[in-house]
Amino acid sequence: MTAGPGEDAAGLARRCAADLLRRVEDRLRTLLAAERETWAAVHEGAVVPVDALAEMIGSGGKRIRPAFCVTGYLAAGGDPADPGIVSAGAALEMLHVSALVHDDVLDDSDIRRGLPTVHAHHTALHATSGWQGESRRYGEGVAILVGDLALVYSGELMAEAPATVVPEWNRLRSEVMIGQYMDVHAAAEFSVDLRSSRLIARIKSGRYTIHRPLVVGASAAGRADLAPVFEEYGEAVGEAFQLRDDLLDAFGDSADTGKPTGLDFTQHKMTLLLGWAMQRDEHIHTLVTEPGHSYDEVRGRLLDTGVPADIEKHIAGLVERGCKAIADAPVAPVWREELAAMARKVAYRNA
Ligand code: IPE
Ligand code: IPE
Ligand code: MG
Ligand code: MG
Repeated sequence: MTAGPGEDAAGLARRCAADLLRRVEDRLRTLLAAERETWAAVHEGAVVPVDALAEMIGSGGKRIRPAFCVTGYLAAGGDPADPGIVSAGAALEMLHVSALVHDDVLDDSDIRRGLPTVHAHHTALHATSGWQGESRRYGEGVAILVGDLALVYSGELMAEAPATVVPEWNRLRSEVMIGQYMDVHAAAEFSVDLRSSRLIARIKSGRYTIHRPLVVGASAAGRADLAPVFEEYGEAVGEAFQLRDDLLDAFGDSADTGKPTGLDFTQHKMTLLLGWAMQRDEHIHTLVTEPGHSYDEVRGRLLDTGVPADIEKHIAGLVERGCKAIADAPVAPVWREELAAMARKVAYRNA
């Protein structure tokens, strides 16, 4: 790609990334269309899991992971014409969809990207169709399979990327599952451990969202030397991303996020937000764990602790740390600026 008339380096860089991201969308759609055709020829009912994935992909999402992957790649000097990076970006989104479908079972969540979650939809379908067995078990069973199918497709897509991405990809996949286990376990234990809460935010979310997609992109371009700088940036910005997600769960608007609010309270998630607040006000433990307390009551008490404002400060510090980490990175200045802008975008969402 060459600069158009009057286009500066930043404009060209953004156009290159946007073009790769458009191709990621195409790759996701062509894979699902081909799979649908294959399974429709086998049996008309066999397309249901594929359609569930197509619906999730089609219902939006911010595409943060492909964005960091192609940015890491372009910043590392990768060739924008190479189809391998498009497949890598698509693989990361597909893995994310897999994690989301399973996450919504784990968290007992009914809405995702503004639509009923896979398990909620199939639970309701079972109930209204008068089928045999327990509706919830059926719905969750379907979601396990749909999530696994997305995991398989993500592996197929990543196999089209340069083999240099494999170690990072393997680590990313196992890490997100270990992180999800730690999240579920911490909710069950429900004892305050701020260090653990921060670690979980990074392991279940920040690393597969930011740090590792950047390193996958850099490795695809043959620049493994960028891994340490992307790690430093990604650890900070990834945590900021998840802390924002936690704040939005507590205080956001479901119409904007496309998922429920207050779910982390109902599921007593040991987030930094909740753990920190419980350290200042022990009564919050009772409000969250004992029945009969409303979401507004928890939210009000949480605000009284002053912790949400402190989380905001912590997020600002993390963004600053992330930006500092890439300030002297051995990539073109335009990509340092782009990464700084992306850090603000994921930490504040509306930037
Ligand atoms: C949601 O991720 C799950 C987390 C790791 C917090 P996103 O906020 O990126 O969700 P989509 O892809 O935009 O729907
Ligand atoms: C989910 O974290 C992380 C993964 C999907 C691996 P959350 O449970 O906080 O994400 P949301 O809020 O449901 O999107
Ligand atoms: Mg969840
Ligand atoms: Mg959340």
